[in-house]
Order: sequence, then C-alpha cells, then structure tokens
Amino acid sequence: MPGPKWTPLKILMLPVYALQIVTGEKRFIENPILGSVRLNRKGLHVWRVKAAAKIAAARRKRLSDLIPKAEQVFFAENGYIERRNFLPPEMFARLRAEVEALRAPAREMTQGKAVTRRLSLTPEVLRDYPAIRALVDSNAWSNPLRYIGGFKAEPVISIQTIFGSETDEGKGKDPQTDLHMDTFHSTVKAWFFLYDVPEDEGPFTYVAGSHKLTKRRLAWHKRRSILASERGDNGSFRIPAEDLHLLRLPQPTKFAVPANTLVVGDTFGFHARGKSARPSVRVEIYASQRPNPFLPVVSLDTSILPFVRGRKEVIGWFVEDCMVKLGMRRQIWKDVGTASPLDPR
Ligand SMILES: [Fe+2]
Repeated sequence: MPGPKWTPLKILMLPVYALQIVTGEKRFIENPILGSVRLNRKGLHVWRVKAAAKIAAARRKRLSDLIPKAEQVFFAENGYIERRNFLPPEMFARLRAEVEALRAPAREMTQGKAVTRRLSLTPEVLRDYPAIRALVDSNAWSNPLRYIGGFKAEPVISIQTIFGSETDEGKGKDPQTDLHMDTFHSTVKAWFFLYDVPEDEGPFTYVAGSHKLTKRRLAWHKRRSILASERGDNGSFRIPAEDLHLLRLPQPTKFAVPANTLVVGDTFGFHARGKSARPSVRVEIYASQRPNPFLPVVSLDTSILPFVRGRKEVIGWFVEDCMVKLGMRRQIWKDVGTASPLDPR
C-alpha cells in the first residue's frame, strides 16, 4: 500500500519534513517521511517513541523534588495522580463561587453530540477573580503538571465545561468516548473537578499503567504506525477496550470523583470519556502542556515573553482563526462571545 503521495511542493518541503522527525508532529497524513510505510517498517516511528520516552524520563528525574516520593511511585505505576480534598473547604467554596460568577471570552467545540466550552483565563480575566488566580499561580497546582509533563513550562489553562449527551454509538457518537492515546510521547493533562462527577455521566477514564513503554506496547506501535502510514492517520491511536488484555493492561479506571479533586495524567496512556446514561454537564479547571518532546531541557518556555504569559489558550485560538482565514484548516474552536461556564446551551 502506498503512503502519502510525493508532489513537487512536498519535495521542496523535504528539509522541513525531515526536521519534524524531532518535533511533536504526529500526523502521518501530512508528512511523507513520518507517513512513509517503508521507513516505519524500518522503525522510524518506534525510534521516535523510544527516544521521546527516554528524554521525558530524564527530564522528569530532574524535577523529582516537585511532588512527594509516594506520588512519584504511584505515578510510575499508574500514569496519573489523584488528589482529593485538594483545596481547604473555604478556599474551594470561594473558588467555586468565582467560577459561577465568571464571564469571559469563550469558544466551543462540537464532537458528535458533545460540546466542550472553554473560557480563557488571561491575566485580564484573572484580575477580577482572586481565588482562581491564587489557584493557577500556586505550586500545589503547577508542580504535579510540571513533574508529569516533564517541563517547568506554563500550561495552557482554561475553565472547561463539557456538555455530554447520552452515549450514542451512531452518527452522533462522541469520538472522545473511544479509548485513545493523545500522541506518540508523554504529555500531561490536568482536571480539577468543581462538582461531583457521577459514574454514569461520562467521567474521565484512564487505563492504569498504559503510560509504560513495554515490549508489547512498542510492537503495537510498530504495527499501528505501518497501518497509519498506509491509511493516513492523525497519530492519536485508538484501542478497543477488548484489546487491552493483548497489551496485558486492565480495563479503564473511572474517575467518578467528588468535587475538589485534582487528577493529573500522562495522556500517552490510554484514556477516554466514559459512557453517559443521560445528558450531563461537567465543569472543571483544565490544563495541558505539550512542548517539543525531544527537548532535553526542562525550562525552555515561550511564557517568558510578556505577551505570551497567561495567554497560551487565546494565542492558540488566534492562530487557528488566521489559518482558517487563509483556508489552511477548518474552524474547530468557534467563538461564542463572552459566556459563563454554567450558561446552558
Ligand atoms: Fe485525549
């Protein structure tokens, strides 16, 4: 089967495609080197997975004073950490009251029947919400993200509301309900749940231990990379729950957790939105961080620039808008003006 087609433009772009081998670029469809069936049969994708994992482990080692030893051991075994009663009750009550009063520039993304709304927490927004600002400025919030992500970089932070629907396996299926890994390397996401998450209302689910690069996982990556090159895949590999045993992995853990719980996970591990018995609304403070996985240093961060600090989310929206105007991509995050996390849809 052929991989991506070579065109004159693609030949001209060859040096860029070659450089992308040592970046976070994950799409097999765009880049004829990353998407080459022949090179992936020879182990190109597997080399990227192994090299990025080795570098992430080395960076994480240098950040080992950021979280308690017991949590490091738990993370190494499971791929996530969970902190219940994360904030003292009065601080949590103040924070939640601010989130309920918050109005800020918002965007929404639709996947199947599910809608994700994000409100940006820029310095201008945070000026009026001291309890939210205190949280995102705190080491208790940042350090697990830094350790698991392996970078002392500022994460992309927003207030996220997920309007879930009853699980639908048909046309309205939410792709987030399929178990998947985000990309070929270790990367961090955090959810600070502001309300109780019922078990049957689409909780976050994670396959414990699936962040580990075992021999079976590497062999699976090799097979998947060849298939992805043939088909032109986006690089977020999926796995049916019934295949997990082939990688000696358990069924997913459901995070049906009480309000005031922080979960931070490595989304190289398999995860998904759990099944929902009814329409649901989940509100959380959400963060992610994904610098170049091949960077050996822990402290290179664009947020040292004053116009970037606290604005990574809105810069992402701006870049997307520009690319849409140039016809280079379709709009994913639609501008819905100023909104509250709790405004109904
Ligand atoms: Fe994901």
